[in-house]
Amino acid sequence: MRVLLTGGAGYIGSHTLLQLLQKENEALVFDNFSNSSPEALRRVKQLANRDFAICDGDIRDADSLDEAFRDFRPEAVIHFAGLKAVGESNEKPLEYYGQNVSGTIALLGAMQRHGCARIVFSSSATVYGESKYLPYDEDHPLQPTNPYGRTKYFIEEIIRDWVTSWPAASAVLLRYFNPVGAHPSGRIGEDPQAIPNNLVPYISQVAVGRLAQLSVYGDDYDTRDGTGERDYVHVDDLAAAHLAAVQFSARTRGCEAINIGTGRGATVLEMVRAFEKAADRPVPLRITARRDGDVARSLAATAKAKQLLNWEAQYDIDDMCQSTWHWQSSNPNGYTD
Ligand code: NAD
Ligand code: UD1
Repeated sequence: MRVLLTGGAGYIGSHTLLQLLQKENEALVFDNFSNSSPEALRRVKQLANRDFAICDGDIRDADSLDEAFRDFRPEAVIHFAGLKAVGESNEKPLEYYGQNVSGTIALLGAMQRHGCARIVFSSSATVYGESKYLPYDEDHPLQPTNPYGRTKYFIEEIIRDWVTSWPAASAVLLRYFNPVGAHPSGRIGEDPQAIPNNLVPYISQVAVGRLAQLSVYGDDYDTRDGTGERDYVHVDDLAAAHLAAVQFSARTRGCEAINIGTGRGATVLEMVRAFEKAADRPVPLRITARRDGDVARSLAATAKAKQLLNWEAQYDIDDMCQSTWHWQSSNPNGYTD
C-alpha cells in the first residue's frame, strides 16, 4: 500500500513509519520539521533497511500538498501533523486553529483533488473532557476543555462532514489515550524540544540527570494512592493500531471514532516506581499542588478497537518504562547527540 504520513518525522509518526516499512508498504513523509528532526527519519531508514520518500512541506500549503500527491499518488493518508501542547494552545489559540484545523482542511482538499479517499486521523482522548462515567467509550459526550482539545473535536466533525459528502471516502479517528515508550532498539523515541509537560518524558529526564526532581501534581485525588490515574499505551502498540486502521479503511466506507488505550490505569506513583525499577535508580520527587485542568482518572473502553480493528495492546507499563529508559539513556540529548 502507498501511504502518505503527515507529521511522519514526529514521535508517533516515526514509530508508525517503521512498522509500515517493515510490512512492505511504500511511504512518503510530509513534514515541516517544526517539532522533529530529520535524524529520526535517517534512523528509521536504517532500522527498516529500506528507503522512503520525504517532502519538507507545511500542511497549510496547498501547492506543496499538490506536488506530493501528484508525485506519490497515495492510496491512504495517516494524518499526525499538528501542534499538541495544551498550555501553549491557551496562549496561542489562533496558531492552533490555523495549523491544526486549517491545515486539515487543506489536506482534505488535496486528498479530494487527487482522488485519495482514505484517512486515519490522530485524535485524542482529550476530546471527552471531564468524565461523566468511566471508562470513556466512544459514545461518551465530547466536551474538550482547552483550545488544543477543541481543535481535535472540530477536526473530527470536519472529517465526518467530508466523508458524508464523498461516498467513496472512509475515515478512522483514533482517540489516543496516553502514548509513551519507545522502539526496543533505543534508536527512536520521544524527543521533547523544551521542558516536558507530560509525565513519562519528565520522569525520564529526571532519571538521566537533565532535570532535578519530578513535581507530582497533587496526591489528594480519589484514586488508589491519591495521584492521577491514566491509561498509558506503548507507542509500538499505537503504531500497530494505525496499520490496522489503514487496512480497516480499505474495507469500509464512512467514519469511525475508535479509542486506543489498554483499558488499564496507572497512577503517577505507580509509573514512578515502574520507572525506578527499569532504570535501577531513584527518581527524586516532591508533591505539589494540582495542575489546572487535570482530572483524577482517565481510562479507555477498548471493545470497539478489538471489534473493528482486531487490535489490543500487548505491552504493559514495565515494557513502556524499560523502552523509554533504553531510548533516554542511549540518547541523553535526544536526536541532537
Ligand atoms: P510530534 O510533535 O512529535 O509530531 C508531529 C509532527 O508534525 C512533527 O514532526 C512536526 O514537525 C509535524 N508538523 C507540525 N505541524 C506541521 C505542519 N503545519 N505541517 C507539516 N508538519 C507539521 O507529536 P506526536 O506526539 O507524534 O503526535 C502526533 C499526533 O498525535 C498529533 O496530532 C497529536 O496532537 C496527536 N496526539 C498525540 C498525543 C501524545 O501524547 N503524543 C496524544 C494524543 C494525540
Ligand atoms: C496531557 C494533556 C492531554 C493530552 C495528553 C497526551 C494536559 C492538561 N493534558 O494529559 O490533553 O491528550 O497529555 O498524553 O496537559 N503529572 C505530574 N507531574 C508532571 C507531569 C504530569 O504529576 O510533571 C501527572 C498529571 O497530573 C497526570 C499524569 O501525571 O495525573 C499524566 O500527565 P500527562 O502526561 O501530562 O498526561 P495527561 O494529564 O493525561
